[in-house]
Amino acid sequence: MPYASKFFNGGRPDFGKLAHLDDELAKYYRKGRLDFRKESVCISLTKAIFQHEFGLRWSIPPGHLCPAIPSRLEYLCWIETLLKFEGDLQLPIRGLDIGTGASCVYPLLGAKLLGFYFTATEVDQESYQSALKNIQDNNLDSQVEIRKASQGEILHGVMRGTDTFHFVMCNPPFFADMSESSSHPFRVKTGDGRQMVTSGGEVSFISQMARESVEWSQNIRWFTSLVGRKKDLGILQRYIQQNITTEVRRTCLKQGRTSRWIIAWSFKSHGALVTE
Ligand SMILES: C[S@@+](CC[C@H](N)C(=O)[O-])C[C@H]1O[C@@H](n2cnc3c(N)ncnc32)[C@H](O)[C@@H]1O
Repeated sequence: MPYASKFFNGGRPDFGKLAHLDDELAKYYRKGRLDFRKESVCISLTKAIFQHEFGLRWSIPPGHLCPAIPSRLEYLCWIETLLKFEGDLQLPIRGLDIGTGASCVYPLLGAKLLGFYFTATEVDQESYQSALKNIQDNNLDSQVEIRKASQGEILHGVMRGTDTFHFVMCNPPFFADMSESSSHPFRVKTGDGRQMVTSGGEVSFISQMARESVEWSQNIRWFTSLVGRKKDLGILQRYIQQNITTEVRRTCLKQGRTSRWIIAWSFKSHGALVTE
């Protein structure tokens, strides 16, 4: 965790300290351990980190994906590093979060910890309502806006003519169907998996996003997305370099035994930068 560790004393969340501060989490803290196989434990821990580490109020309805905060912070911090190489940034930094989920995790953390402004999009009505609640419960309405997206559209339909953003970020639905979701070794530990499924999987979703990005090449500096599988990373990198733009970056984010990748592309020339 080279980027996000700066937000935690000792480099990672201190479960013992959090359990001491949080009655709900304390119920699950036994012999210095938390049992992450239980959804309720993941949710209580995430809630406690939001509240006690970052002063944010947070909730999600049952059945929705519960985010692992350190890895979400890692992605945000990588974007911050990517942008810092550019010198002439017009502040404040503005980002577009595609598929913000019920948690609205990237906008909440990015606004509170990094001072970013966000527009978030979400296609699922229940997730949209929950994300809106998280924004309002934290009085972040002036810093975070949410737009309802239509199924099948990623940038089209949510981008407006005058919008400009420094970056787009996205944690896409990774899997092509529910069976793939439940058999994957890094499968969702919380929620019912619906949020992780899209027709054609992540390659289809991110390549559509890349095709749509051409129309917004002058409005957005960096288009980025998480990628869940290394073989998909290679497929996407080749696709984008051959069909969209040659300015492509990639990096690997490791958390415990889990690896995720980020792919980023731009229509401006930026010189040498962070890579794997
Ligand atoms: C894997 S979840 C990520 C949620 C959250 N960003 C996170 O990192 O925990 C993907 C989200 O994208 C949403 N989604 C799927 N297709 C979308 C689209 N075309 N536009 C906006 N959101 C979409 C899903 O409803 C789901 O909430």
